[in-house]
Amino acid sequence: MKIVSSIAELRDQLRGQLRTAFVPTMGNLHEGHLSLMRLARKHGDPVVASIFINRLQFGPNEDFEKYPRTFAADVEKLEKEGVYVLFAPTEKDLYPEPQEFRVQPPEEIGDILEGEFRPGFFNGVTTVVLKLFSCVQPSVAVFGKKDYQQLMIIRNMARQFALPTEIIAAETYRADDGLALSSRNGYLTDEQRAEAPALHRELINVANSVRAGQLDTALMEKHAMEKLTSRGWQPDYISIRKRINLQPASPAEIAKKEPLVVLAAAKLGNTRLIDNLEI
Ligand code: PAF
Repeated sequence: MKIVSSIAELRDQLRGQLRTAFVPTMGNLHEGHLSLMRLARKHGDPVVASIFINRLQFGPNEDFEKYPRTFAADVEKLEKEGVYVLFAPTEKDLYPEPQEFRVQPPEEIGDILEGEFRPGFFNGVTTVVLKLFSCVQPSVAVFGKKDYQQLMIIRNMARQFALPTEIIAAETYRADDGLALSSRNGYLTDEQRAEAPALHRELINVANSVRAGQLDTALMEKHAMEKLTSRGWQPDYISIRKRINLQPASPAEIAKKEPLVVLAAAKLGNTRLIDNLEI
């Protein structure tokens, strides 16, 4: 595997490649990321990964400084997956001057759910993803459904800017007890790690209620939030939305079996976890 940090070196390495499959990451790789690499390999060749902790998507009180940096272990894992090039730019490589041109996702999808609780997050994500796409020029790029809203916003961005990159969705990779794998799981104490699958269980309960014919989304969301709160969580939201645009679904739409997804974000101690489940 070639490891490159400058955009020029990356372009040299990829010159003439016609079906590059790209997986952008922020490192601290776990099985979830590796499953994205495997899916990428099914859709293109060569597979290119990036590791870049993107300051633009972190709020002032978020975990940019303490975000886990495990470069040597990440390189070993990517080598085993047969990744061809790892693009690991420094901040100076990717942002040699202040990144003043930004992507601004529309409010209806950018300022709800994660965007409401993490203002500017999707501006930072879409800006770096567009820039990484411009560096790698991939034919396909793989994103996990774990970050459901991110996936949808990137899809919409790719479509609206007519980017020549097909966006592929990968299923969420879960531990045996149901917890969605995330780099932030590493922040959990043993006791919190044992509690953490309760988030996924609440999503299953909500999905089961919808499948059983419940139409009152506000009530289902309230019950789920109360349940988590009583177990010591601080939920930001548990919300039943239409898959198509992440807007709330009316009772009539639910009755007509509109495809739905229930999304959640909640803090356990100082660690904020997100998860979702398609219904
Ligand atoms: O999902 C992530 O890890 C990040 O948001 C991404 C897509 C690599 C952009 O920094």
